[in-house]
Amino acid sequence: MTLFTLNVPICTLLVSLFTNAVAIPAKQVKVKPPAFFLAGDSTTAVQATNGGGWGNGFLNTTLHNGATGKNFGHNGATTVSFRAGGDWANVLSAATAAVPKFTPYVTIQFGHNDQKPEKNISMAQLTDNLVAFVNEVRAVSATPILVTSLSRRRFDNATGLVTENLADVTAAAKDAAKKSGAKIIDLNAASTKYLNAIGAANAATYNLAPADFTHLNNEGSVVFGNLVALLISEQLPELKKWVKAEKGISKALKKGQYVFPEL
Ligand SMILES: *[C@@H]1O[C@H](CO)[C@@H](O)[C@H](O)[C@H]1NC(C)=O
Ligand SMILES: *[C@@H]1O[C@H](CO)[C@@H](O)[C@H](O)[C@H]1NC(C)=O
Ligand SMILES: *[C@@H]1O[C@H](CO)[C@@H](O)[C@H](O)[C@H]1NC(C)=O
Repeated sequence: MTLFTLNVPICTLLVSLFTNAVAIPAKQVKVKPPAFFLAGDSTTAVQATNGGGWGNGFLNTTLHNGATGKNFGHNGATTVSFRAGGDWANVLSAATAAVPKFTPYVTIQFGHNDQKPEKNISMAQLTDNLVAFVNEVRAVSATPILVTSLSRRRFDNATGLVTENLADVTAAAKDAAKKSGAKIIDLNAASTKYLNAIGAANAATYNLAPADFTHLNNEGSVVFGNLVALLISEQLPELKKWVKAEKGISKALKKGQYVFPEL
């Protein structure tokens, strides 16, 4: 008998739990779309004289359903100059300001200039500087994404393969990911693989100027911006709804076929 009297309140409790559970979807908070703030050197930056990277191609063609972003890439930047010149503070302010309406992400790609001997930045220092960036992004409630350096497009005539001269800074970025636990996309490996597949002549059509094998024209920006989108959707599948490589470009990138998008 005592069992029965006990059961009544338990049943009531279960019913009220169930009612609450049913009511939750109506109150569910809508997931905020991502906002991408791109920190990097000229191989991320807007197309201009002596600069032009994947950033604007990514922002212009791969973001959907309310996702947005801003390119903070700075021509000639190292991890040291980007901070000293105030660019890094601007990235953090933008990420902070985005929090109420967006889920902020900061992509971090440095190395092309950090590796130059005259910059006097050791690879251990580069790793430490990248880890510091990661920690500061997290401190403003944003998510860091480390990006290894976009390949240059000079080929070795003897092998017919792209000359890989960013191995040191790629390793430093991977070290930074390991030390900080941050997500990393290996743009260096993916871009090298794609360039080798399409060959020197096709690769040169993405040059900002005929003899500029580092910076990208608009079409190159769109191609490699879509490659970044592919890598992001692989590494951060929660972003699939917002970050989508264009179908035709995505297919070409995956198959290693040359593509020159019409803009
Ligand atoms: C290079 O950096 C090291 C370590 O920070 C420093 O001791 C040295 O003076 C620097 N050399 C030049 C030429 O700036
Ligand atoms: C490779 O071939 C191109 C095109 O024929 C030529 O312009 C370039 O000088 C060659 N590079 C080297 C390092 O031999
Ligand atoms: C991105 O869009 C802006 C604004 O329409 C345009 O000026 C720029 O050329 C575009 N860049 C790329 C690489 O698509």
